Amino acid sequence: MQYSNLIWRNGQPYNEMFDDIYCSADRDEDISGENEFDHVFFRNNDLPQRWQGRDSFVIAELGLGSGLNCLLTLRQWLKHCAACGEDRTLHYIAIEKYPLSPQAITDLISGYPELQQLCEEFVENYPPAVATTHTRHLFDNRVVIHFRFLDACEALRAESLKVDAWYFDGFSPAKNEAMWSHELFLQVARNSHDETTCSTYTAAGFVRRSLQDVGFKMSKVRGYGKKREMLKGRFCGLQEEGLKYGDKPWFKAATGVAVDKGRMTGKRISVIGAGIAGLSLAYAMVKRGWDVTIIDRHGAVAKEASANPAAVVYPRLSADNGVDTKFYTSAFCYSVYMLAVLQKKYWQQFWFTGGLLQSMEREKLSAIIEKNQFNEDYVCLDERQLVGSGLSDFMDGEESEVFANYRNAGVVLPVVLCTALKELCGEKLSMLHSDVSEVTNNDDRWQCMDGARLIDESDVLVVANGTGINSIGLQSVFPVGGVRGQVAILKASDKSKEISQTINSGKYITPAIDDRHYTGATYARNNTSLEVDPDDTEMLLRSVQQRFPDVFHAEDISASWVGIRSMSGDRVPIVGAVPDTAFFSKEYADICHGRVTKCYPAARHLEGLYVSAAHGSRGFTSSFLSAEIIAAQINNEPPPVSKDVLDYLSPSRFIVNHLKRG
Ligand SMILES: Cc1cc2nc3c(=O)[nH]c(=O)nc-3n(C[C@H](O)[C@H](O)[C@H](O)COP(=O)(O)OP(=O)(O)OC[C@H]3O[C@@H](n4cnc5c(N)ncnc54)[C@H](O)[C@@H]3O)c2cc1C
Ligand SMILES: C[S@@+](CC[C@H](N)C(=O)[O-])C[C@H]1O[C@@H](n2cnc3c(N)ncnc32)[C@H](O)[C@@H]1O
Repeated sequence: MQYSNLIWRNGQPYNEMFDDIYCSADRDEDISGENEFDHVFFRNNDLPQRWQGRDSFVIAELGLGSGLNCLLTLRQWLKHCAACGEDRTLHYIAIEKYPLSPQAITDLISGYPELQQLCEEFVENYPPAVATTHTRHLFDNRVVIHFRFLDACEALRAESLKVDAWYFDGFSPAKNEAMWSHELFLQVARNSHDETTCSTYTAAGFVRRSLQDVGFKMSKVRGYGKKREMLKGRFCGLQEEGLKYGDKPWFKAATGVAVDKGRMTGKRISVIGAGIAGLSLAYAMVKRGWDVTIIDRHGAVAKEASANPAAVVYPRLSADNGVDTKFYTSAFCYSVYMLAVLQKKYWQQFWFTGGLLQSMEREKLSAIIEKNQFNEDYVCLDERQLVGSGLSDFMDGEESEVFANYRNAGVVLPVVLCTALKELCGEKLSMLHSDVSEVTNNDDRWQCMDGARLIDESDVLVVANGTGINSIGLQSVFPVGGVRGQVAILKASDKSKEISQTINSGKYITPAIDDRHYTGATYARNNTSLEVDPDDTEMLLRSVQQRFPDVFHAEDISASWVGIRSMSGDRVPIVGAVPDTAFFSKEYADICHGRVTKCYPAARHLEGLYVSAAHGSRGFTSSFLSAEIIAAQINNEPPPVSKDVLDYLSPSRFIVNHLKRG
């Protein structure tokens, strides 16, 4: 995917592919884009009246384009928040298959001086041109933009949303059938609820009939400017048919499992584990106004896997596992975004960009790039000469090798990052020093015990304790094991400082950071020894020497570090609400027979209990997005990833697979 550029024709922002304009650039009151928005989308969705008394509101726009409708909506919402003096959040689902470049948006919005400030924040946080989901919390969390840089139908098919108002703005129906198809409106209906409204500038008969067919009560009303009529509608709901096998009822309640607010004793949450999973979760919740208590057996941050001296941040790309690539693509984009945002707020450097080269088979890499339409800024095929007798050969050797070049990848210093997260949470975060031996539920509250001592009690608890997940007496036992890894730190020399990108061909070596290179990591299952193993050190040295002969020597090794990764049986992180296993075993006992016509109840979870664990070898890529997934579930917000990704990460997948096997 590449950003689209803007073309001006007859003074209007024009799109050649669709032979249509994005919006009217006229400022004349009768035909301006601003007034058109106000009439067509805002007033005809009964806004701002429907915002009254709502803590949050969900708008979805099909065709984000220049962002004009979005920015005009945000301006109204921020005014509304200022008037009611309360923290409220607008969720804006911005769907766009051909995103304009940030420069094009800036140019177009420059015609609206009153939107300049909003536009600056919008553009500063605008996602990269990567076809996936990107979430941005703006204006002190009063606005969350859920960018879906995807085809509208494809995006909505993978969602399970409750949209309050739809803006249909996908160019003229005569010029862009895909944005007005029956299949798309079926997905719109699936993501609507009883109060949902919609509006559009078109009055086309087939659009009206299609929306009626899927359950909207449509009416024609006065149009804007030269258009005599337009359409508005209200969803009347479809007949509930009950959940069948194909609907995957066991994953149905994965969103909306938040604790009943009526009985909640305040926005306070507890987290077990002060590694990157727990701290990124704490940060996500503090951003939403919650108070967080982290309980850790070391009483300090980053003392186990997250004590890794340097972690490489890059995505995991798979040729045959689309949903895995989907998760790690979103996660990587979000992690890189968050690391840059956090770095700006913190005095000590923890984030070192510079890119990463990963050895990969040419065919595999080409297929991945092709399938996902990745652009060169995300990943490209890079053929290099990296084998030889010294660094000069690093540039000019004769044998060439194929690499995936991730230009935005980098290296993070985990201890500094975790400290930064803790400090940035400020007084909203408190730490408890305790080794939780058991988690129990008493009167709907989660209690953390240290032996016989009650340490902490809360309505919402997130278990983010890495390798300790199965040692706190949870009802579910997760297939998680420890994988030992060792890394070595090497002193940099003038020659080694020529390495400007991390290079990873099974083992990685980073560029020099404060005169040190980091190389790793070994990978050993069924070994939990935290002692440095000299054989591992030797093996790591040999590996860098093979890559860079004459550059690194045994005496350059200044330190080694050993840690244990927490890895699930399927090597996928475990993120989300914890299943009520008794309910699953009873209600889904027969799913091994695959009865497609039988109706099943939606899943039940242990209310207020969540897990973020098993981040494996990629915790610094996966934790930030995982934290957002859980924070969205707790707060009943639209999720930051599509439904298939939620299901893929779900803690329920193990019991479901077990029951399916019979
Ligand atoms: C050698 C090695 C190299 C790695 N390299 C990379 C890399 O390059 N890039 C990358 O992204 N990732 C890398 N990783 C993986 C990464 O370090 C982990 O995925 C990440 O740190 C996991 O974070 P976490 O918060 O889930 O777990 P942890 O950091 O282990 O945090 C869990 C916390 O829970 C606490 N805890 C556990 N049980 C209890 C209890 N019962 N009561 C109270 N507290 C408890 C622990 O004290 C700990 O602080 C590497 C890992 C290793 C071992
Ligand atoms: C009329 S413009 C939207 C104008 C926009 N609402 C604004 O405020 O500037 C229509 C948009 O729909 C996008 N689009 C076209 N086909 C699409 C599809 N199949 N899926 C998602 N977006 C699509 C176009 O790229 C274009 O940006």
